[in-house]
Amino acid sequence: MAQKACIFDLDGVITDTAHYHFLAWRRLAQSLNIPFDEEDNHRLKGVGRMESLAYILDKGARTVSDDELASLAHQKNKDYQDLITGISPTDLLPGILDAFAWLKSHGWLVGLASASRNAPQVLAGLKITEQFDYVADAGAIPNGKPAPDIFLDVAKAFGLSASQCVGVEDAVAGITAIKSAGMYAAGIGDAAVLTEADIVLPTPEGLPEQVFSIF
Ligand code: G6P
Ligand code: MG
Repeated sequence: MAQKACIFDLDGVITDTAHYHFLAWRRLAQSLNIPFDEEDNHRLKGVGRMESLAYILDKGARTVSDDELASLAHQKNKDYQDLITGISPTDLLPGILDAFAWLKSHGWLVGLASASRNAPQVLAGLKITEQFDYVADAGAIPNGKPAPDIFLDVAKAFGLSASQCVGVEDAVAGITAIKSAGMYAAGIGDAAVLTEADIVLPTPEGLPEQVFSIF
């Protein structure tokens, strides 16, 4: 049987850090008097730090100097890092450890395709670093999600074709990235939002039965 791989997003799939990104972005937007709601949050899921900041400034029709841009990005990241201090295995979403166990016992490779430069720290806090055969370096990927690059980077590291990989994502931009890469896309969240996904589950519970074992 051909080798298979599961490539996970991190924030909102493995742990609920998507909510912490939201809180930090909303705080920054509020400090600039720019409205920021759940819909903005959906759009920014999976989107890199500088691109997200550009979206918020654009929404507020604000232009800032390069120095201010760097300082705003730094502030958001500082607030986010404060929120993830103390992240621990109790913050794993339900079903994630079972998913890792199933993948290991069935000989699949396991990769991470997170746009977050904080990913290594989050994995360490969750004590799951060793579950991954390869973790993409977000800083080394030229085009962020919805471009397929980060998923293709993981497939390349494994020496696999896209058709041998399942991607798991909670973000619209992430599902687009997986589909553009030519992979099978499992969405975590709301099927009415993740319309491009091949299958959508409300949580990672059920990944082994409903996704991996039929792939
Ligand atoms: C992930 C999250 C985004 C976040 C991005 C960059 O894709 O879903 O909300 O903006 O990573 O994260 P970073 O930790 O590098 O600012
Ligand atoms: Mg995500």
